[in-house]
Amino acid sequence: MIKNVKIIDLPKIEDPRGNLTFIEESNQIPFCIQRVYWIYDVPGGQVRGGHAFKEQQELIVALSGSFDVVLDDGKEKDTIPLNRSYYGLYVPKGLWRQMQNFSTNSLALVLSSTEFNEYDYIRDYKEYIESYT
Ligand code: TYD
Repeated sequence: MIKNVKIIDLPKIEDPRGNLTFIEESNQIPFCIQRVYWIYDVPGGQVRGGHAFKEQQELIVALSGSFDVVLDDGKEKDTIPLNRSYYGLYVPKGLWRQMQNFSTNSLALVLSSTEFNEYDYIRDYKEYIESYT
């Protein structure tokens, strides 16, 4: 796995009435949450992401269904399948990341360490490799 990337086991309260998982900023994740967004209704075969962030760190959770997160630091490339709502993928800043292979009705939750800022995006792979790796 690429340096500093990790799967965080979220608490899971199992119950015959249905399971429950939660996230507390100070206990489960290594940053302050500034924004939450989610990706849904993804048509089959579509790819999201395909950029890097200069500062943004994030935690990605497959709340429903499954998808793959592809991470690339310019030297190593990891494909991480997410398909459980009690695993969070921690993505540090500065990695190229793409999300793909979404199952029908999948729901991707992203907790972000920054508010939205287009200037934080690196959208050109060549520029990413040349200037940020
Ligand atoms: P983007 O992050 O580029 O999505 P993807 O990486 O999956 O292609 O975001 C798509 C659009 O949504 C872009 O115009 C910016 C806008 N957006 C916001 O306004 N706020 C947000 O928090 C996010 C994540 C995106």
